[in-house]
Amino acid sequence: MSLDAPSGQIAFTLNGQALSLPASPVARLSQVLREGAGAKDVKVGCNAGDCGSCTVLIDGAPVCACLTPAGQAQGREVETQAGLVARDPLAGRLAWAFQRHQAAQCGICTPGMMVAAVALLRHGGPLTETRVADALGGVLCRCTGYRKIIAAVMDAGDDVPLAEGGVGARLARLDGWPKVSGTEAFGDDVAPADALACRVIRSPFHRAAFRFGDLEGYRRRNGLDLILTAADIPGRNLFGVIPGFEDQPVFAEAETRFRGEAVAAVVGTAEALERVETFPVEWEERPAILTPEGAAEAADLHEGRAANVMARGHVARGDVAEGLATAAHVVEGRFSTGFIEHAYIEPEAAVARRVGDRIEVQCCTQAPYMNRDGLAAILGLAPESVRIVPTATGGGFGSKLDLTAQPYVALAAWRLGRPVRVAYARSESIASSTKRHPSDIRMEVGCDAKGRITAARFDGVFNTGAYASWGPTVATRVPIHASGPYRTPAYAARSAGIHTNTAPSGAFRGFGVPQSAVAQEQLFDMLADRVGMDRLAFRRLNCLRNGDATVTGQVFETGMGMAACLDALGPHWDRALADAAAVNAAGGRTRRGVGVAGGWYGCGNTSLSNPSTIRAGVRPDGEIVLHQGAVDIGQGSNTVITQIFAEALGVPVSAITLIGPDTDVTPDAGKTSASRQTFITGNAARLCGAALRTAILRLGNVGEGATILPRPGGLILRDGEAEHRVELAPGEGDYALETVESYDPPTLPLDENGQGEPYAVYGTAAQMVELEVDLDLGTVRLLAFRAAHDVGRAINPLLVEGQVEGGIAQGIGLALMEEFLPGRTENLHDYLIPTIGDVPPVTTHIIESGDPHGPYGAKGLGEHCLVPTAPAILNAIAHATGARVHHLPATPDRVRAAILAAGGGA
Ligand code: FES
Ligand code: FES
Repeated sequence: MSLDAPSGQIAFTLNGQALSLPASPVARLSQVLREGAGAKDVKVGCNAGDCGSCTVLIDGAPVCACLTPAGQAQGREVETQAGLVARDPLAGRLAWAFQRHQAAQCGICTPGMMVAAVALLRHGGPLTETRVADALGGVLCRCTGYRKIIAAVMDAGDDVPLAEGGVGARLARLDGWPKVSGTEAFGDDVAPADALACRVIRSPFHRAAFRFGDLEGYRRRNGLDLILTAADIPGRNLFGVIPGFEDQPVFAEAETRFRGEAVAAVVGTAEALERVETFPVEWEERPAILTPEGAAEAADLHEGRAANVMARGHVARGDVAEGLATAAHVVEGRFSTGFIEHAYIEPEAAVARRVGDRIEVQCCTQAPYMNRDGLAAILGLAPESVRIVPTATGGGFGSKLDLTAQPYVALAAWRLGRPVRVAYARSESIASSTKRHPSDIRMEVGCDAKGRITAARFDGVFNTGAYASWGPTVATRVPIHASGPYRTPAYAARSAGIHTNTAPSGAFRGFGVPQSAVAQEQLFDMLADRVGMDRLAFRRLNCLRNGDATVTGQVFETGMGMAACLDALGPHWDRALADAAAVNAAGGRTRRGVGVAGGWYGCGNTSLSNPSTIRAGVRPDGEIVLHQGAVDIGQGSNTVITQIFAEALGVPVSAITLIGPDTDVTPDAGKTSASRQTFITGNAARLCGAALRTAILRLGNVGEGATILPRPGGLILRDGEAEHRVELAPGEGDYALETVESYDPPTLPLDENGQGEPYAVYGTAAQMVELEVDLDLGTVRLLAFRAAHDVGRAINPLLVEGQVEGGIAQGIGLALMEEFLPGRTENLHDYLIPTIGDVPPVTTHIIESGDPHGPYGAKGLGEHCLVPTAPAILNAIAHATGARVHHLPATPDRVRAAILAAGGGA
C-alpha cells in the first residue's frame, strides 16, 4: 500500500492500519495521533519530553510523540499501546503481567511504560532489573513506586492465571484491563468532536492589580465564541472545600493573590485558540509575601483573618513544663520542609455540556459530590441540576479534591449551549494547583533515664498559601498526630496556617502529618542516642499499645499494632546495622547508614461526620449490581469495596457488575481522601451486602446459612441438599431487590484542650531504610526499604503492597529532591520526582491487628505509607555521616553542608 500523501497530509500506518490525515508536518505527533487519529491511548502529561507518557513506537523504536514532528511519521509504522496489546502476543502477555503484579494503579503512565517495555522485550536478550530500568527510565510514574512495573516486565513471558477469591485474596484490579489494554478514558479523553476549547488566563505575578482592555473587540477580532470573567458568574464567585472557608474566586476581581490565579477564560475552536492574540489585560505588580515570615505585618489577604492567620490548632495534655524540667534528657530542634507538588501525570481536564436546564461535567476528580455542590453554588443552580461523571483519574493524591478546571467549562457550556473542554498545560497545572504545606517546626522532647518519654512540646507554622483549601484540616490534624504513635504523658502542640501570596496549600497524602513526623522522628533518634539506646528499641519502649491513652486521651483496647510493626523490622534491623558497621569499617568516602521511623494516621475526617453510602440491587434476570461511588484514583477502591461487598453477600467477586461514581446514579461515598474509603465506604459495602443477602434469603424463604449461587438468568439458593430458583419480579426501578446502606464512623468532638476521640481508627507503621552517602559529594544512594504496616486486615494484599511502594516513592521525593518554588519549578524538568532508578527494592510486612470498627477488621492505608519514609531516610543519613539535615529536601549540597558543619567530610 502506498503511503504517499497529498500536500498538507501525513500518511503512515497506525497499529497496522494505513492512514492519511490532514496535519502540519511540524505539528506534535501526539496531537495528530490523539485528535486526528483518535488514538487516545497516547497520553500527554507534559508536552515537553519529561514524563514519557506519550511514548509510541516508530518503526519499532520508542519516541516521545509530543516532541516528534508529525512529518517524521510520514511513510512509517507507528504503534501505540492499544494496537500493541491487540496485535502482538508479546504485548498481550505483558498486559496480563501488568494486571497480575498491579503494575498499573491510576494507569495514566501505563501506555508509556508498556510501549517502552515492548520495545525492550522485542529486542530480546536476558532481562535484568538494570536493563528494564534503563529501557523504562524516560517514563515517570507517580503512583506505583516502579517496583511492580519492573516485576511485571521481568515476568511478561509467563502465562500465570490471575488470583481469585474474596476478602484477603491478591485479586488483580477489577478495573485494570482497560488501563493495560489502552482503552481507559481519562479527563481529556472523553470530549465530543464538536466541543469548543477553553483556555484560562492567569496572573504572571505573585500579587497584582489588573485591568482588562476591550474584551468584546478582542473576542470579535479573534473569532472567539466567549470570554468569561468574574462578571459572568451567575452564582457565587467563590469556592472552597470546608464550610465557612469558601474563599477562592473562580476569577479574581481587581487583584490576584498568587501567580497562576485565574482572571479570565477564552472559549473557541481549537484553531481559533491556537492563533489568538495576546489577551488584553494590564498588570500592576504589587508587593507580595511568599513565606510566613513577615506575614503578620503585611496587609491581610482576607478580611477577618488578622495577621494572615487562616486557622490554628492545638492539643494539650498533662504538665509539659514539669515533664521537660524533670526529664533526664531533653532534645530540641527546628525542621522545615518546602512546597511539594502533587505531580500526578494527568493534568487537570474536564468537559461540560448543557442538557436542558442541567449541566453535566465529566472530569478527573476525587470528590464528585463536593464538586457538584461547589459548581452549583458558582452557577446559581440547585445541586440536583449539576451532574458530575468522573472519568478515570490519572493520580490525585489530594489535589483533585478541590474544584480545578470544572467551573470554566461548566460556565462556558452553560452560556453557549455547546460542549466545552479544557486540559491544563503542565506549567498551568503546577502553578495553579494546591500543594503540600511548607512547614517550619520547633519541637522539644524529653525522656527519663531509662528512655521513657516524659513530655513533648511542638510548635508548627504552615504556609497555607493564598486560599484556605484544606488548610484548616492540616491545622487541626497536625497537633493530634505530632507525638507520633508513642505514649507521651505531657504534651502541648500548636499549629498555625498562615496566608501568603503563593498557590494554595491543600490536601496531599498525610495532611501535614509527614511534615510533623520529619521533626518528631529525628528528635527521637537524637534522644535515643543521648540515652545510649538502640533507636528501634527506644521506639519499641515508647510505642502505643492496647490500653494506652493517645495525646487526645483516646484509649484503644484492641487493634493498636505499632509494637508488631517494630517487631517485624527487628531481625532485619540488627542485620542491617551489622552490615553498615562492616562497610564503614573499611573506610573510604562512602558511608552506609540505617534509619528507622514510625508513623500513624487517623482514618477519616477529624471529629466530624463523614458518612459513605452504598447502593446495590438484583435485576430480574439475577444480575447483581453494585453502585460503588468511592472514586478509584489508582488506590484500588473499585476492587477492595467489591471484595468486601461480595464477601458480605456471599457470592464470588466475578458475579458483581460494577457501576462507578456518577452523581445521578451512584450515592455519595464521600471523598477519596484521608485513608477513609476502605474503612468507611468498605463498612457501607459490608452493610449493604449483608442487607441484600438477608433480602434474597427472605424472598427465597431459606435459612441464614443458605448459599447464593448466581446463575445465568437468575439466582439459585442452596439450602442443605435443596436448590431452588428465587422468583425475582420486576420492581419499580431497575431492580427486583434493592438495598442502600450508610456508615458513619463513631468519633467524639475535641474539647478546648484538644481532648476527645477524633478518629475511630488509626493505622500505624514502621519503616527502615539502608542507604549510602558519598561524603565528598553529599549524594545519597538508597539500597533497600522495609515497611511494616498495620492495616487491621488486608482486604487485598497485592493492593496493600502497591500503596506502600507508591507512598515510599513519594516519601523519597519529599526527603531528597522535591521542592516547588513559585515561578521557578513549573515543569517536570525543574521540579524533579523520583524516577525508576530512584526507588530501591521495597519489602512490605503486612501486620493484621484487626480493628473492631473496620470491615472484616480492615483499616485505611493510603496516607500512612509515606509518613515514616522521609524521617527514616534522614535518620539513616545521620547514622551514616553524623550530620543531621534540618531543611528538606536533603539535596547533595545540603547534605554536604551538614556533613561539613558536623566536622566530617573532606
Ligand atoms: S507528554 Fe511527551 S514526554 Fe510528557
Ligand atoms: S500508575 Fe503510574 S502514574 Fe499512576
